[in-house]
Amino acid sequence: MATYEDVINLALRRSFFYPSSDIYANAPAGFYSYGPYGTAIRRALIEQWRRLLLERTNMLEIDSAITMPEDVFKSSGHLASFADPITECVKCESTYRADQLLTDHTEKEYKEAQSDEELTAALVENKLKCGKCGGALGPVKRSSLMVKADVGVAKKTNCYLRPETCQGIFCDFAKLYKTMRVKLPQGIAQVGKAFRNEISPRQTLLRQVEFYQMEAEVFFNPREINDVSEFDAVRDTKLNIQLADQDKPKIMTAGELVEKKIVSGTLVAHYLALTQQLMASYGLALEHCRFRQLDEDERAFYAKEGWDFEVQSSVGWLELIANNYRTDYDLKGHQEGSGTDLTVLDEETNNKYIPHVWEISIGLDRTFYAVLEHAYNKDDKRMWLSLPAVLAPRKVAVFPLLSNKPPLVEKAKEVQKVLLGLNPVLDTRGSIGKRYARSDEIGIPVCVTIDFDTLEDETVTVRERDTTEQKRVPIQELWKVLEDVLVRAKRLSTLQ
Ligand code: GLY
Repeated sequence: MATYEDVINLALRRSFFYPSSDIYANAPAGFYSYGPYGTAIRRALIEQWRRLLLERTNMLEIDSAITMPEDVFKSSGHLASFADPITECVKCESTYRADQLLTDHTEKEYKEAQSDEELTAALVENKLKCGKCGGALGPVKRSSLMVKADVGVAKKTNCYLRPETCQGIFCDFAKLYKTMRVKLPQGIAQVGKAFRNEISPRQTLLRQVEFYQMEAEVFFNPREINDVSEFDAVRDTKLNIQLADQDKPKIMTAGELVEKKIVSGTLVAHYLALTQQLMASYGLALEHCRFRQLDEDERAFYAKEGWDFEVQSSVGWLELIANNYRTDYDLKGHQEGSGTDLTVLDEETNNKYIPHVWEISIGLDRTFYAVLEHAYNKDDKRMWLSLPAVLAPRKVAVFPLLSNKPPLVEKAKEVQKVLLGLNPVLDTRGSIGKRYARSDEIGIPVCVTIDFDTLEDETVTVRERDTTEQKRVPIQELWKVLEDVLVRAKRLSTLQ
């Protein structure tokens, strides 16, 4: 099992991601850039989400503005409720997140949902002091997570950067319902940046101020929560379910969740199953994942039912996805706040109603980190990233066996051209062993080596990353061999 340090060292060594603006000493913490391989993997994670979730359920994808007026967040409840509990040193004014400070320095786990009074009492009881100057810590209070971004010159409009991408979806719902001739249930999704003014951004991609979300909001008629005709296709999908009143997860099928009334309805089980399948396709094995049912104390202020999808990691269980039953909370709030009618007609009963929402909110950066950690392998000879082929940042590398022999280099360039479309990497630097090692550590599934025999018989050596097995393949069959590796990974029939 890889450690957090293993992953970060690899990420920095190969520029998967790195701190933003760090040529300046005063660059704030909590901002990261993705380098070329990181960008490619992140894009592949998004493409897979499109294929396995959006395409299968005919969702609409949008790209809404990041900056939104204050009124949006009055209606959504974020201005009133979206805040972390903080404590300040009375001497040096260093600020800490109270629940994290307590969890890190005591035996107990503390939650942000606990009251300010409770957390203040725990700080006193545990005699916690400022980590920087040893000063006393002040009473716990709330600090807003919203990032302000007023716009306009002569006349300013109070705005904020969205703290979750879905607010754009809610604000655009009525327009899309009309112009896209929507019939519920209908999912609307978007991937993009969201911003949260974290008091203590930490652990690189795991807690940032500026981060990516892939969110899907499924609008439905609550009367029809059990009418999901496609459910049979995922009924037998296995999920690792941890109920709120239990310590350990248990494998259950999506069908069981419905039969035992563990979820509010079939629609919920349907999307939990699709979510599990998506995560499995990222290389996160069922036994390392769980859906953790949230009790009332843990749920977001807008949620009636919540299941955090978590994955085991070297830093503990990591929440990757918030699955929330948001009811009509958001559309109702925006209807009241904006004065726009957000109801739709139930054609069967002839009543107007505000649609309910099932949300699948994926933290993309955290998922990216988890995928790297789970793909990270090493033995006494080498390190390799066993990324599913669909996620690999480059699909194939082409090497001349010897980099100082021009005919081999020329032939390698020719083979690279043959493979255009797969974004083939041509690597001519260093020994062949070093080139295999460089390719393995960024997860390239297949390497193609050109040697002196290639010049004679037009065959090359194809080496697979995970097994290091090599076979001889005619150049004209290369596409077929590679397609076998890559297309197999895309096929939906491989989903369990
Ligand atoms: N939209 C849910 C979340 O950001 O957690």
